[in-house]
Amino acid sequence: MKILPLIFLLAAVNAFAEPQKIRPGELWPDNRGLHIQAHGGGVIKLGNTYYWFGEDRSHDNNPEKRFVSCYSSLDLARWQFRNQVLTLTNVENLQRDWALERPKVFYNAKTKKFVMYFHLDGALPGEQGGYKLARVGVATCDTVDGNYQFQKSFRPLGHESRDLGQFIDDDGTAYLISEDRPNGFRIFKLSEDYLDIERDICLVPQHLEGGAIVHYNGLYYFIGSQLTGWDPNPNKFATAKSLAGPWSEFKDIAPESTNTFGAQSTMLLKVSGAKTTSVIFMADIWKPRAQWDSRYLWMPLEIGDGKIHLPPPQPWMLDVDTGETKFLKTQKNEAK
Ligand code: DGJ
Repeated sequence: MKILPLIFLLAAVNAFAEPQKIRPGELWPDNRGLHIQAHGGGVIKLGNTYYWFGEDRSHDNNPEKRFVSCYSSLDLARWQFRNQVLTLTNVENLQRDWALERPKVFYNAKTKKFVMYFHLDGALPGEQGGYKLARVGVATCDTVDGNYQFQKSFRPLGHESRDLGQFIDDDGTAYLISEDRPNGFRIFKLSEDYLDIERDICLVPQHLEGGAIVHYNGLYYFIGSQLTGWDPNPNKFATAKSLAGPWSEFKDIAPESTNTFGAQSTMLLKVSGAKTTSVIFMADIWKPRAQWDSRYLWMPLEIGDGKIHLPPPQPWMLDVDTGETKFLKTQKNEAK
């Protein structure tokens, strides 16, 4: 082989092999070069592949419908668009401004079904506007990135439910985190087939949404945001030895004045590698008037001994095999 093509080939192989940067707050192009549409999302891992599901708010979407998209990745940095996995027309007779938000997908190994939960909302019959229905919606599919079919919607054990979070414990048990506006937030265990709620594990009387949980070094860590609509606020965390509580006092995950660097929590993703375990704070930087352009803030957390600290957003790299993360800022830039 001539020397020049060989250099290009090596450069291409190298670019693929080299870990990619994750750039919080910037446009995040998929394999088609389009900004990823997976807002308020969640990630699950099947084999060595990660799947990211979230609200698809593409500018050219049919405004009458709501969409969920799915992307896949081997390194959590380069994402391939798989499918617009859910296209929902107005179910439950909702009025114009109805909402499908924060979809999360669970894989049920017993039934071999993929079960998607999402926040379904809108005005109540005869009323106008607002998030009043306060239900979860359920859709299922036989494959991870196929076309999910809407099954039903309900209030979990009769309680109002708005922002939804997903938590799968180390033993594989699946939980739903649900914001119950009059009372706080709840942690529900899903039924054996995941199509229902089995029981209420805990009601935490703290008004937080965007709920996310990780089980790290024998302790459960919860992160949530305060109720300020699309506007950012200081996200808070608490810890507990058991999901049933008692939960510790809630504290800020970042300096209060930063308002979580403009972001709102959606999931805590644990990456366990051969050398270490990292926890990624997944959050949304919302642009309510241009939702398709809403950004993602993914950052590795400083976590342990009952504490959490979210470092200032900066480009970083992750090695999913070792679990290690690396910031790319130089000491000089850091001091600025
Ligand atoms: C905050 C929630 O976290 C979002 O998912 C969305 O429901 C907005 N409120 C709507 O104001």
